[in-house]
Amino acid sequence: MPNIAIIGGTGLTQLAGLTLTEQKLVETPYGEPSAPIKIGQLAGQQLAFLARHGDPHQLAPHQVNYRANVFALKTLGVKAIYAVNAVGAIKTTMPPAHVVIPDQIIDYSYGREHTFFADERAVEHIDFTYPYSDTLRQALLVAADKAGVQCTDGGVYGCTQGPRLETKAEIDKLERDGVDIVGMTGMPEAALAREVGIEYASLALVVNMAAGRSQGVITMDDIEQALEDGMGKVLTILTHAIT
Ligand code: HPA
Repeated sequence: MPNIAIIGGTGLTQLAGLTLTEQKLVETPYGEPSAPIKIGQLAGQQLAFLARHGDPHQLAPHQVNYRANVFALKTLGVKAIYAVNAVGAIKTTMPPAHVVIPDQIIDYSYGREHTFFADERAVEHIDFTYPYSDTLRQALLVAADKAGVQCTDGGVYGCTQGPRLETKAEIDKLERDGVDIVGMTGMPEAALAREVGIEYASLALVVNMAAGRSQGVITMDDIEQALEDGMGKVLTILTHAIT
């Protein structure tokens, strides 16, 4: 069984290069995960891959069953998750197609099933001071360095509810809060992984400048272009990190 899993976000529904050995549709007490979990080998390393939004991409960020996704990976014996997240950037030092390895989170999402400590499970207040695994973050940074891919070490990920993008005033507020990059899927995924003891880190790919941080409106065409330009870097970092 694989120790490592990749959760692919927008623009990463299928993992090119994964030699598939098995697909598992895991039932959990929380329902079904977004898609069957693919198990196979990437660069000789066994791993699991899960498409967060389904395969094909069909679930909006607030519709993803984060509990089922994380629980299913836990059931398979996964010990470490590399999560890929598309984000908007508030800082001009993080242009489209740039990769950020965030080190902090502010959660603005709401109404999502966000904990395993509900119902019959006794409440445990997990430590979340440092929401991402330092071990996995360092592995990603070393991998990026080895691969010669420039990326930003650290940054505050703000998780908004979506699926709409933000207003300029909302982004101004997030900036005052200290947010560097904004996405819709970082939470509750990271906290759920911590609750079940899975190491977790994020590779955030900037796909647009956040609202009011560039000229004009944000178009899906521009986002798709940035995904195309940047996803290769994400895959290169991941491949180096797991081997
Ligand atoms: N805001 C929130 N989530 C996002 C964005 C954004 O600008 N871009 C990609 N995901």
